[in-house]
Amino acid sequence: MSIHIAAKAGEIAEVVLMPGDPMRAQYIANKYLQNATCYNQVRGMFGFTGTYKGKRISIQGSGMGIPSFSIYATELITSYGVKKIMRIGSCGALLKQVNIRDVILAMSASTDSGINDRYFQGMTFAPTASFELLNQAYKKSQELKIDVKVGNIFSTDLFYDHIPDSWKIWASFGVLAVEMEAAALYTLAAKHGIQALAILTVSDHLVTQEACSSEEREKTFNQMLELALETA
Ligand code: HPA
Repeated sequence: MSIHIAAKAGEIAEVVLMPGDPMRAQYIANKYLQNATCYNQVRGMFGFTGTYKGKRISIQGSGMGIPSFSIYATELITSYGVKKIMRIGSCGALLKQVNIRDVILAMSASTDSGINDRYFQGMTFAPTASFELLNQAYKKSQELKIDVKVGNIFSTDLFYDHIPDSWKIWASFGVLAVEMEAAALYTLAAKHGIQALAILTVSDHLVTQEACSSEEREKTFNQMLELALETA
């Protein structure tokens, strides 16, 4: 057991998908995994292990933002020996050429996070996806005929930023979208020598102000999920 995850040794698979919302973890386990069992309910942050096409996989909710995500990812790696983590989540598009409902493979994740600032003492680290996972996910997306965009994203600490349009700095450097966790995933993966990838769907658009309906969210979420499960 770790502080925030109540699983016993061996109850978590080497490959873990991490949605932000713990209810999504339950939805994925019910819909896609065979023989799923729940190994964690601490703080309602559900975790399940089951099999997908015979492969053992766990699904662990992360909560929102880098601090919450970092707690769960660190415990998965250091207490349970997890070797591959894929974040699955939503993001807001920052560029006109990115469309609502697009699937994004985050090759790298820029950040304004205070955590990375502290780790690197004011120097700049470039949080980067595992090439192996990225390459596999890209090939799978072509097989499954899912149109993906691949590039840099922005992991912010602030969902409600009081500086209007600050995201435009990132957009002007070709950053595709904003979310709140991937930079922590890539930094922790580098530190602990594991593989990591963030696969995201565009749920809202900062340029056009469009937003997905909940139905659309569910449909594109399933597409992203199938891509993640097939990559795993
Ligand atoms: N900002 C931060 N995170 C997000 C957004 C956003 O607009 N949309 C989805 N995740």
